[in-house]
This record gives sequence, C-alpha cells and structure tokens, in this order.
Amino acid sequence: MNKFAPLLLISGLAAAGALACFAVHPDDQAASRVERGKYIVTSFGCADCHTPLKLGPNGPERDLAMNFAGHPASLELPPAPTLPPGPWNVSAAGTMTAWSGPWGTSFTANLTPDDETGIGKWSEAQFLETVRSGRHLGRGRAILPPMPIEPLANLNDSDLGAVYAYLHSLPPISNRVPQPIPPAE
Ligand code: HEC
Repeated sequence: MNKFAPLLLISGLAAAGALACFAVHPDDQAASRVERGKYIVTSFGCADCHTPLKLGPNGPERDLAMNFAGHPASLELPPAPTLPPGPWNVSAAGTMTAWSGPWGTSFTANLTPDDETGIGKWSEAQFLETVRSGRHLGRGRAILPPMPIEPLANLNDSDLGAVYAYLHSLPPISNRVPQPIPPAE
C-alpha cells in the first residue's frame, strides 16, 4: 500500500466533513435570506416612511398595526399647503407617509404581501425590475420622491432578493394607498 494512502484517506474525510458543514438545509437558507433582508431594510430605514407614525403617550411612535402598510387609506388629508417661493419646498404629513413637493403629492406604498393592496402578487423578478427601472412593476409610472430608489438600486440582485424575501415574510395588511396627486400648475 502506498505510504501516503492513510494521509490521503484522512484528508479526504476532512474534506467530506467540511462539505457536510456547508451543506445548508433549504429552510435554513430561506431563513437566512429573510434575516439578511431584515438587516438591510432596518439599516436603510424603510419603515421610517413605509410604517405610519401615530401619536403615543411619549410622542410620535410607529403604528405597528400598520407595519409597512404605507399611507393609511383611512386618513384623508386636506390638500398639501402651498409654500411661499423660497428655499423651503417640501412638506410632510405627521405620519411621514404623505409628502408634497415640486413633484406633487406622493403617498408611501404598502410593502406588505397583501395580494390586492400590497406586493403579495409581485414576483421577485418584478420587485427587482421595479427597483432597477424606478418604475412601478418595471414598466408603469415613474416612482416619485422621496422614495430613495437610487440607493436601493445600488444593492446586488442577491441582497434585493433578500429584501423581497423579508417583505414577503411580514403579515399582509389590507390598505389601499391613494394614487399620487400631480402638482397644481
Ligand atoms: C423617505 C421616505 C421613504 C423611504 C426611506 C423609503 N421609501 Fe419606498 N416609497 C416612498 C414613497 C413616497 C413611495 C411612493 C412613490 C410613488 O407613489 O411614486 C415609495 C414607493 C416604494 C416602492 C414602489 C411601490 C410600487 O407600488 O411601485 C417600493 C418597492 C419601495 N418604496 C420600497 C422601499 C424600500 C425597500 C425601502 C427601504 C430600502 C424604502 N422603500 C424606503 C418613500 C420612502
């Protein structure tokens, strides 16, 4: 027998052991994708605009019953104020879900996986196309400010897929966000 045979056998076993360690169960893989998505969504502050604020005992706090559900359909707002000419040109509702500026008035989208009012029916590919093109479902109208679409589009496909996986892991909330209102003139 070759004198190196035991050595080869041992290194073979070690390699097999290492491979076994890396063989991740599909459920673990899905869970870690959701975890990564949560990490990215939390770091980017998506909830700052996509979860409405409500007034709590200590001031404004996130309305977790509306977690990632966007601008509350039940909250009807008067038209946005017309600001005097000058450097101040954006106003926001106290919920931080309705915004007015030179682009008109925009309302933050429902990012929960509700089929009718959220992104429940979106495929991962459609989510990526939306972010990459800056257009609703990749071909609809342009997504308006203050949605930070450019920094989000800077993520690679795997990270954007993780964001999609995290959003799809949230409880669906039925909330039909109003369409944007074009600028006055
Ligand atoms: C500064 C506020 C703000 C932040 C922060 C923000 N968004 Fe938005 N987002 C908006 C607004 C406003 C809209 C609606 C724009 C429109 O109607 O054109 C929107 C729309 C979207 C849309 C498009 C939905 C559709 O139906 O086309 C997606 C997807 C989205 N946001 C995902 C995210 C993610 C993911 C993050 C975090 C990485 C995030 N947003 C952070 C304000 C924000």
